[in-house]
Amino acid sequence: MVKLVVFVMVVAVAKSLGNKCDVPPEFWCGSEKVARHCQVTEQCHRFYEPNADKVRFALYYESMCPGCRDFFRTQLTKTFTALKDIMDLTLVPYGNAWEKKDASGRWNFTCQHGEDECVGNLIETCAIHLLKNISIYFPFISCIEHDEFGTPQFSAKKCAKQQGIDLQPIMDCSTSSLGNSLLHQMALKTEALNPPHEYVPWVTLNGVHTEDIQKKAEGDLTALVCDTYKGSSKPAACNKKTGLHHSRRKL
Ligand SMILES: *[C@@H]1O[C@H](CO)[C@@H](O)[C@H](O)[C@H]1NC(C)=O
Ligand SMILES: *[C@@H]1O[C@H](CO)[C@@H](O)[C@H](O)[C@H]1NC(C)=O
Repeated sequence: MVKLVVFVMVVAVAKSLGNKCDVPPEFWCGSEKVARHCQVTEQCHRFYEPNADKVRFALYYESMCPGCRDFFRTQLTKTFTALKDIMDLTLVPYGNAWEKKDASGRWNFTCQHGEDECVGNLIETCAIHLLKNISIYFPFISCIEHDEFGTPQFSAKKCAKQQGIDLQPIMDCSTSSLGNSLLHQMALKTEALNPPHEYVPWVTLNGVHTEDIQKKAEGDLTALVCDTYKGSSKPAACNKKTGLHHSRRKL
């Protein structure tokens, strides 16, 4: 009903502009190209929106696992940089760690790749919390994950300097009870996975994990996100024929 009202408005606006649109009105909002031709781009945006929810993509990983670093290096950084306008990305740096509450009430974390990995998870968790804006913390975390020869502390220092990020509050958080409880939240998020994760990196697409999604994410994440996105107007990166068949477009 709302759609119909908006549509009638679109038709009225276009008529009042007296343009030379030769496409029947029911197709005007079918693609951005036609909308532009008929001079109704602005009005048609209301049509695009209901189907144009961002693609929710979540990565469950741990800071020092080689496969996780590979995923940042070969897929995630490139894809998120190109597609951040249509992606709602969640990073959960915990992975195969486990936790136990100690006598003082703090969580005692144990990590697959040793104590440094726990420190890395804490630094990244605190960066997410303190920097808040993913456009700021993603490049920082990605930089740490790209730096495979340093400890997370060393990489964090280097990456913060490179990107003009104030590292001290992040390091303070990573050793504080705030950092401890933030990482516990990452543990809860990881433990809430259904099905439970069996390895890292582990991905979910719009909240769902399947072997097929995992394989596509590791093979060509850009194609996966572009194909999943329902909006009519896709970012330019979706039109490059790099993958299998992800440049399909209506009209
Ligand atoms: C954390 O757990 C490990 C392994 O169970 C133990 O060796 C260590 O003493 C604990 N640390 C603290 C601070 O309780
Ligand atoms: C996040 O940071 C980017 C890059 O600096 C900026 O363009 C954007 O407006 C910020 N978003 C919010 C919600 O502050």
